[in-house]
Amino acid sequence: MKNILFVASEGVPFIKTGGLADVVGSLPKCIDKTYYDVRVMLPKYTCMKQEIKDQLVYRSHFYMDFNWRNVYVGILEAEYEGITFYFIDNEGYFGGFRPYGDDVAYEVEKFAFFSKAALSCLPLLGFRPDLIHCHDWQTALIPVYLKERFQSGDFYRGIKTVMTIHNLKFQGRWIMKDVKYITGLPEEYFTSDRLECYNDANLLKGGIVFADAVTTVSNTYAEEIKTEFYGEGLDGLLYSRSNDLRGIINGIDYEEFNPQTDPYIVHRYSADNFRKEKIKNKRALQEELGLDRNDKVFMIGIVSRLTDQKGFDLIAYMMDELCQDNIQLAVLGTGEEQYENMFRHFDWKYGNKVSASIYYSEERSHRIYASCDAFLMPSLFEPCGLSQLMALRYGTLPIVRETGGLKDTVIPYNEYEGTGTGFSFANYNAHEMLATIRYAEKIYYEKKREWNKIVDRAMAADFSWHVSAGKYQEMYDWLIGY
Ligand code: ADP
Ligand code: GLC
Repeated sequence: MKNILFVASEGVPFIKTGGLADVVGSLPKCIDKTYYDVRVMLPKYTCMKQEIKDQLVYRSHFYMDFNWRNVYVGILEAEYEGITFYFIDNEGYFGGFRPYGDDVAYEVEKFAFFSKAALSCLPLLGFRPDLIHCHDWQTALIPVYLKERFQSGDFYRGIKTVMTIHNLKFQGRWIMKDVKYITGLPEEYFTSDRLECYNDANLLKGGIVFADAVTTVSNTYAEEIKTEFYGEGLDGLLYSRSNDLRGIINGIDYEEFNPQTDPYIVHRYSADNFRKEKIKNKRALQEELGLDRNDKVFMIGIVSRLTDQKGFDLIAYMMDELCQDNIQLAVLGTGEEQYENMFRHFDWKYGNKVSASIYYSEERSHRIYASCDAFLMPSLFEPCGLSQLMALRYGTLPIVRETGGLKDTVIPYNEYEGTGTGFSFANYNAHEMLATIRYAEKIYYEKKREWNKIVDRAMAADFSWHVSAGKYQEMYDWLIGY
C-alpha cells in the first residue's frame, strides 16, 4: 500500500471557490484503493458552513515555532465518501468571511503557516505519506521545507513531492526580506535558482524547484506555460524543468454531475432522451430567471469567476451587439466589480433576454449546465477548465477559445465531416468570438438535427477521472518505486 497525502487550500464538499476544490474533492476517490491510501489535508476555515464544521472531529493539537512565535496548531478529521480529510486549525490564520483575503503579505504568512503545520503534524497522525501531492502556490513551501529541515529526521526521509499547477497566475510573491522573516528559511534559499524571482520571493517558484515532479492540468497548458505569453515570468524555469513537467487533464465527478440523477435539476434526462426531456429544464429556468418563455430561443449559459482570465472583456465589448440576436443569456458568477456591474447593467437593459445572478450557488450552476443550449467560455488562458466539461456532460455545447484545457477537451464542430462536440475560435478577439457564437446560432436554428448530433457526441465524451487517475498513479509509482 502506498500512502499519498493531498495538501490544498480548498476541496469539495468542505470549501470551494473554484475548480481546484472540485479536483481535490473528486480525484482522491478515483485513485485505486487497493494500492493507494489517499488522504487530504485542508485548512479549517471559520467561513466553512456550520453543518460542515459540525462534522469535523478533534484529533490532536500542538504548538509550532512559526514566524518567531509559538503558534497553536489543531488537527481535526472527517471521513467523506471513503476518504479521510484532515484539517489544520488556527482561528487567527483561518478566520474571516472568505478563504482568501486581499492582503498578499498576510496570505503568504497564512499559507506558509499551513505548509509548515501540514508537515509538522504528520507524526501525530500515524500516517506517513510516501508522497505529498501539493496543489498551487498555497502549498508550494512544502517541498521547500521538506528539503530544508524536515528530511533530516528519520520520519520524513525519502518522502517524495509532486507540485501541481492549477493556475500559474497566482504565485505567492512578496518582498524577500519579509518572506525570509516569516518562513525562517535561511539566506541561501533566496537566490535566483531557488525562491528569488525578479527581486521578490516567490513561493510557487520554490515548489517548482524543489518538488520531485511538476504537473499541470492539461497538455496544452503544459506547453503554453513554457512561453512568455502564458509563463507569468516562470517560463524559463518551466522550460528548464521540461523533463519533469507533464500535463494531466482534469476529470469531473461523474456522480455529482449526472443529468440522470442530479437532484438540483427539475427534469432528469439522459443521452437517449435529451431530445425530448432537456427542454423541460430550459422552460423551468426561464421561469426561475424571469426570462421570456420560449422553447425555441437559443439560450447561452455562463457560470464563472468574473475575472479577466475568463475573457469577460471580449464579452463586455460585444454584449450590445449579441443582444440584438435572438438569444437568451443566463449568467451566474462573482468576481471583479466591473464585470459584476456590466452583467447587472445588461440584465437591467435587456431584462427578458439577459439574467445575471451575481452570487455563488451550486444548485443554480447545475440548472444552468442542464438547461442552456450552449455554454460560453472565451478564456484568455485556461489551465484546464471544468465548466466546459460539466456543460458537455449535460449536452450543453461549449463555445470556447482554443487555449489550455479548452483546446484539449472541446472538439470544434466540422460540418463537412460531421465531427465535433462544440464550437471554438483561435484568437483572443471579440469579433472572432461573436462570429463563432453566430455560427453556433445558425446551426441551432437552421440545422437542428445536426445540432442534436453534436449533443450526442458531447454526451458520449468521457471526462470522468478514469484515465487521468491512472496517469497520476503511474507517476506516483515512478516516484515512489514499484
Ligand atoms: P476556475 O477554477 O478557474 O474558476 P473551472 O472551470 O476549473 O474554473 O472551475 C470552476 C468551478 O467553479 C466549476 O465547478 C463551476 O461550476 C464553479 N463556479 C464558478 N462560479 C460559480 C458560481 N457563481 N456559483 C456556483 N458555482 C460556480
Ligand atoms: C484553476 C484553473 C482552471 C482549472 C482548475 C482546476 O482554477 O483556472 O482552469 O480547471 O484550476 O485544475
